[in-house]
Amino acid sequence: MGKRCKVSPLRVFCVVLAAASVATIVTLWTIAFTGGEGGDVTAPWDRYRLPPGLVPLFYNITLWPRLRPKENSSLYIFTGWSTVQFECLEETNLILIHSNKLNYTKMEDGHPVRLTAEGDESAPNIKSAWLQPQTQYLVIQLKGRLTPGQKYRLYAEFTGELADDLAGFYRSEYEEDGVRKVVATSQMHPTHARKTFPCFDEPAMKAVFHITLIHPPGTVALSNGMEEDHAAITIDGEALLQTKFEATEKMSTYLLAIVVSDYTYLNTTQGNIQIRIWARRKAINQGNYALNVTGPILDFFQSYYNISYPLKKSDQIALPDFYFGAMENWGLVTYRETNLLYDPETSSNSNKETTVTIIAHELAHMWFGNLVTLRWWNEVWLNEGFASYVSYLGADHAEPDWDVKDLIVLDDVHKVFAVDALASSHPLTSEENSILLPGQIMEQFDTISYSKGAAVLRMLSDFLSEPVFKQGLSSYLRYFSYGNTVGTQLWKYLQMAVKDNKVSLPHPVDIIMNPWVLQMGFPVVTIDTSTGRVSQEHFLLDPETNVTVQSPYKYKWVIPVRWMKDGYVREDIWWLDEKEALNVDMMTGPSWILANINVTGYYRVNYDLGNWERLFSQLSTNHQVIPLINRAQLVDDAFNLARAQLVPTTLALRTTSYLSQETEYMPWQSALNNLRYFELMLDRTEVYQPMQDYIRKQVTPLFLYFREMTSNWTKVPEKHTDQYNHVNALRTACRTGLSECQDLTRMWFGQWMDHPEHNLIHPNLRSAVYCSAVADGTEAEWNFAWSQFRAATVASEASKLMSALACSTDTQLLDRYLSYTLNTTLIRKQDATSVITAVANNRVGHSLAWDFVREHWVYMFTEYGVGSFSFASLISGVTARFSTPEELQQLLDFVEQHKEAGFGSAALAVDQALERTEANIKWVQQNKQEVLHWFSSQTGG
Ligand SMILES: *[C@@H]1O[C@H](CO)[C@@H](O)[C@H](O)[C@H]1NC(C)=O
Ligand SMILES: *[C@@H]1O[C@H](CO)[C@@H](O)[C@H](O)[C@H]1NC(C)=O
Ligand SMILES: *[C@@H]1O[C@H](CO)[C@@H](O)[C@H](O)[C@H]1NC(C)=O
Ligand SMILES: *[C@@H]1O[C@H](CO)[C@@H](O)[C@H](O)[C@H]1NC(C)=O
Ligand SMILES: *[C@@H]1O[C@H](CO)[C@@H](O)[C@H](O)[C@H]1NC(C)=O
Ligand SMILES: [Zn+2]
Repeated sequence: MGKRCKVSPLRVFCVVLAAASVATIVTLWTIAFTGGEGGDVTAPWDRYRLPPGLVPLFYNITLWPRLRPKENSSLYIFTGWSTVQFECLEETNLILIHSNKLNYTKMEDGHPVRLTAEGDESAPNIKSAWLQPQTQYLVIQLKGRLTPGQKYRLYAEFTGELADDLAGFYRSEYEEDGVRKVVATSQMHPTHARKTFPCFDEPAMKAVFHITLIHPPGTVALSNGMEEDHAAITIDGEALLQTKFEATEKMSTYLLAIVVSDYTYLNTTQGNIQIRIWARRKAINQGNYALNVTGPILDFFQSYYNISYPLKKSDQIALPDFYFGAMENWGLVTYRETNLLYDPETSSNSNKETTVTIIAHELAHMWFGNLVTLRWWNEVWLNEGFASYVSYLGADHAEPDWDVKDLIVLDDVHKVFAVDALASSHPLTSEENSILLPGQIMEQFDTISYSKGAAVLRMLSDFLSEPVFKQGLSSYLRYFSYGNTVGTQLWKYLQMAVKDNKVSLPHPVDIIMNPWVLQMGFPVVTIDTSTGRVSQEHFLLDPETNVTVQSPYKYKWVIPVRWMKDGYVREDIWWLDEKEALNVDMMTGPSWILANINVTGYYRVNYDLGNWERLFSQLSTNHQVIPLINRAQLVDDAFNLARAQLVPTTLALRTTSYLSQETEYMPWQSALNNLRYFELMLDRTEVYQPMQDYIRKQVTPLFLYFREMTSNWTKVPEKHTDQYNHVNALRTACRTGLSECQDLTRMWFGQWMDHPEHNLIHPNLRSAVYCSAVADGTEAEWNFAWSQFRAATVASEASKLMSALACSTDTQLLDRYLSYTLNTTLIRKQDATSVITAVANNRVGHSLAWDFVREHWVYMFTEYGVGSFSFASLISGVTARFSTPEELQQLLDFVEQHKEAGFGSAALAVDQALERTEANIKWVQQNKQEVLHWFSSQTGG
């Protein structure tokens, strides 16, 4: 599943669910085992995991979605009938099959299903059958027993709601030429197939799927397999089409996809693979970029995995309503429109990068995840972390001039460092038994799984070397094709490749990886050049918090430390072992030492003050001697070490001093990200002005550099990352009040308002320009932006305007905007939480957003709460600025008030918000004066 969604705010919801859920599970098992003698055993249908005795072989499913509501009603439905053939492995008189929110039609004998045996056998009669909503089963008790080795078929006819709930078989709507259109589409992952047809809905229950769809004339039906037969049919006098699809490969239920729409497509072929990009008719021309890159990316992965693409076709479709970034259904990948479509006229280069990376992420799953699937959801990290890591490689293949591989450091490593440094973090893996409920499964899809997973796999590939990593990977995928496995098998196959290639490692792969995977957090490596001592400890952002989760490795890691000494590149790896600290000869003298070259390792580095000073002096004399990625890293490490009180805050601020000479994107972005915390904490205090003045002073040379490079803002920089920094220069200069910048954005936006049909603002700059113009503007600018948002036909353009509308400094406009989120005809359900967090992000809007959330909590909880990603980001978004005891009290009151109903998928985000607020209060108390003084001293104020 794809998470990268630059539009939506960071999803930080983190999981020491472990702690919370262990209690529930223990109770559950206790009941199951102790009840034995008293005769009060927990019934099998009260347990969330399927018993292993029955395994599906194939399904034969026909579904008929109604794209119009039932007469005299607003209810949209689908009907269906399905057969599942399964084999009995263990004798039993009970069939448990998943089913959620489906109504069944009674068979001749009054039961909801018909059971038959294959061959000459006869199947036992049904004693009783009922639905078990809590565990989402259809339970069938038999009068006799099923025989091991015998195959059976279970047939059912059912009706479900085609709701707009973005789960299972659901309804998405959009308007085209004034006509309201309905798409019937699906999101089975992770546990919604059972809401579409009765099935054994666990990833290890792989089967072959024969799908048939019945749909209105004029629409097209898609599924995982290629359409192989179209027929015109009539049901109850209604003329319809029936499309049958080729049987799928053996696969998991969560990878199934079905779509009925009046979409159109672009197509091409790559080798034998038919590639199609699907979109609504008005948007199909935006599919060209996806069409261009899909073939090369598939080619790249065929060669990376050394295994051909397992299917004949690759469909990718853009949907108006979709909660996630994208979903890797095998052969029919579904996307949010913003993630698949790219319009050269209006989309930025950042949109383009999002598109190519998400496509690469999803296509990477076609092998890793789909062809070979992890047995259970406790190892989501391996699937998602892997796809996230190799998405950069696939994107790099499609866009070799972009240096996109470097960006993993900003977009994943830095992002997850922030979360994994908290006491509330959690290890990559969980116990299989601790992940049972659908909500617990959803919670696995967090930043830790995606980004830390990506970071540690990148580290692994780096120290094994890419050819060895690929060799091990390829044999793993070959061995387990069409099956399921567990993560330790990957280590085993990588170890075989290590042996094969005689790679020298201090320990076997699994021993090296276990501390990274089985315990939460990551190390800070401290290099003391005065003593030559190198040591490691668990890095915690707040050193005073108590880590309650016990670590099996006592927070020691086997660390591949890549280092470089004194400018001329003498790179090397030390293995900092779990047992001891290293003593390394480090010549004395004026030379500096730098570790974690290119941040291939998942750890931070601290130095003695002498080495920091020497690094500063190198940065200010000739910063280019230090590798680009490490310049970004020195900034990020220093700011975070300061948060953890390992270095003074002023040392961190000093890493930004050289930025007046820096023109590269990565260090600037890293500094802006880190200064953002200072802004969040202090921009409502007297530090605001000196901080603005300092940042403006630093960014002015960059602003002038880009003015020059773009011939007075008439051209676009050539290099991809220069294009990014161009935006940074403009956004930061405008935000900190550089009048030349504000004049520019006012003029550009004014020209657009005068000629609404001609937007001449370059797509790359639009977010920054819109925001600046709305912030400086009046109600007229806001209303114009709103009308353009309503009229936008390109999703990425709409999302830029949507963010910009939250930049206003007029509280009445912000209040109006917040109220729009309660009306789904104004703000789509999928976007509501982004709007609220964007308002909260604004220093003027922060308290409005918090008041709004408190006031409308019950509505939001019922509308978006259960199982939604964005709900957690809502909590972390509105509380991001909390830094006073009053705000902490408000949060505590809020938690107390809603304790009863709970917080659903945001429960962990709530705990994190509490932890973060306490840390923020301490930080402001400890640092405010020093920071005020430092900023003032830099600008002579
Ligand atoms: C699936 O069902 C259809 C009728 O609904 C039938 O024609 C077809 O033969 C069935 N396929 C299998 C594999 O059972
Ligand atoms: C299923 O049955 C329930 C109870 O009769 C009814 O309220 C619901 O609308 C039905 N759902 C569909 C999709 O028909
Ligand atoms: C695109 O699809 C059409 C219709 O199926 C087909 O005739 C054509 O050959 C396809 N083009 C490519 C390049 O595959
Ligand atoms: C797709 O590729 C074609 C042919 O190389 C090129 O002309 C076109 O500009 C590309 N489209 C996009 C959106 O990149
Ligand atoms: C951590 O635990 C110690 C000992 O149990 C306690 O004294 C201290 O207050 C705790 N610290 C925090 C921040 O909770
Ligand atoms: Zn994924």
